[in-house]
Amino acid sequence: MDALKEQNQDAKLITGNREVRLNNENLKRLTEDHLYHIALSNVQHDLRQLFGDVKFVCFGGQSSRMEKFASFISKELGLEDNGPPKNYAGNTDRYAVYKAGPVLSVSHGIGIPSLSIIFQEIVKLVYYAGCRDVTFFRIGTSGGLGLEPGTVVVSERVVNGALEPSYKMVVLGKTIDRPAVVDTTLVEDLANCSLNSDNFKTVKGTTLCADDFYEGQGRVDGAFCEHEDGEKFSWLRKLKDNGVTNMEMESLGFIAMCHRANIKGAVCCVTLLDRFEGDGLTTNRQLLSEWQTFPQIIVSRYIQQKLNESS
Ligand code: URA
Repeated sequence: MDALKEQNQDAKLITGNREVRLNNENLKRLTEDHLYHIALSNVQHDLRQLFGDVKFVCFGGQSSRMEKFASFISKELGLEDNGPPKNYAGNTDRYAVYKAGPVLSVSHGIGIPSLSIIFQEIVKLVYYAGCRDVTFFRIGTSGGLGLEPGTVVVSERVVNGALEPSYKMVVLGKTIDRPAVVDTTLVEDLANCSLNSDNFKTVKGTTLCADDFYEGQGRVDGAFCEHEDGEKFSWLRKLKDNGVTNMEMESLGFIAMCHRANIKGAVCCVTLLDRFEGDGLTTNRQLLSEWQTFPQIIVSRYIQQKLNESS
């Protein structure tokens, strides 16, 4: 227990030359930390032994997609002989945490509130595990603006609905403003992982993070709608004129929390439709699933490149 307290006293970890902070003095007083939503504890599980080798954490919305990504990256890294990646959060059906060698593949559900819970527990997990030099990615889906569906966007800027790079949240009745500062080197490196021979395009762009899939993204096909098609198109054009390439629901919280924790992080999403062409996702499921592998391919190349450099 003393060792644990000592570990908590120094609530930070060195990741390469980066220092990830837990930013919470209260943790120093805990004798046990239950990572409730992933059914893991820093006392009941040997987190160092289980996760100490983790270098990359890839987040995505659906658990089935993250299971597929874990299998894919396991194959890419030549780790298939270890068997299918295990879901370490198997005791809960809230989130999934698959591990394939140095890569965690984690589901975050939909929207920043769901992302924020698992993000915080994963930051604590890598801290307790004593991980070094960790990079986080969100590999997701989005609606595109004037891009061919199936295009991958690496977010070089993330903004809220008012086009500000700021994640606002209410804590104890006060609005806290968290800057969403993108790691430009990581963005460049990721974008450079695209190949001329790819059967999809990869671009850099501004990602708008909305609070909702329907009205929040200007759709007119939700259960509620108080705007007209014309207003929707004027808004979409305004976004496009301001450099917005795609819309989704987590990038702002993800980038702001990476920045706050001093973790290197980037967002890489495929566009599932062009919002200038419509609101509904009518493309067949098989093609949509194939498109969802495109950002995984880009991130997997980055991971392999970094692992090769360090070996
Ligand atoms: N995810 C979103 O948030 N919006 C889309 O249009 C597609 C995926």
